[in-house]
Amino acid sequence: MTATAIITAAGSGLRLGHPEPKALVRLNGTPLLQHAARRLVMSGVVDALAVTAPAGHETAFRALLPDAVVVTGGATRQESVAAALAVLHEDCDLVLVHDAARPLASPELIARVVEALRAGHRAVVPGLPVTDTITAVDPSASSATAALGTVPRAGLRAVQTPQGFHRDLLDAAHAAAAPDAATHAAGPGGTPTAAAPDATDDAGLVEALGVPVWLIPGEESALKITTARDLALAELLLAGG
Ligand code: C5P
Repeated sequence: MTATAIITAAGSGLRLGHPEPKALVRLNGTPLLQHAARRLVMSGVVDALAVTAPAGHETAFRALLPDAVVVTGGATRQESVAAALAVLHEDCDLVLVHDAARPLASPELIARVVEALRAGHRAVVPGLPVTDTITAVDPSASSATAALGTVPRAGLRAVQTPQGFHRDLLDAAHAAAAPDAATHAAGPGGTPTAAAPDATDDAGLVEALGVPVWLIPGEESALKITTARDLALAELLLAGG
């Protein structure tokens, strides 16, 4: 079985306070994109790389990763992944979707995701226990608001990437979630079903198909870089080996 990794890297650096795309922001002198790509290659379980680039930055991304297929990303992460899936080589059986924003996910973690896929799971994600107490709120609430109820954290995991899938399953999940899918797929009684909101990850799309997702232990170093504080923390992790 051959595996391709899609590195999602078409996001902006705005929340990080950078004018350039986040994937080009440097960590210890190396762009986040290259950190993520190196570890995928070092895992020894990835045969090819595809990268989603923000429109207008494709050439810069190609220069950083000459061996990767670079595709122009979409307006959302989900659209970016769909654009990359559309150009994958037909021989590819397994797909890893990995955020460039998680540059320090280790080669060992990447290999464990693929190992679980090869063992027969069709969708595999890393996750970590949650340490904060989590409460529900009205999703439209901005700041101070009523707490709607604490969710027992023992039953929660914070989900990371890389997320691994059998390719046919991920194709089906994205096809079902595509913005125009509602016009094709009729619900009970022939009424078109409403399009789901954009998913924040691919496992969510697979779950929407009713297919189980297998969770393996994640790692602290696979943290997602969103703010300048996250970047500083990643520098510390790198310095610590
Ligand atoms: O914005 P956020 O950090 O949640 O994005 C997660 C990952 O998805 C990032 O690596 C980002 O570059 C990528 N992304 C993308 N296309 C978008 C938005 C985000 O590839 N339209």
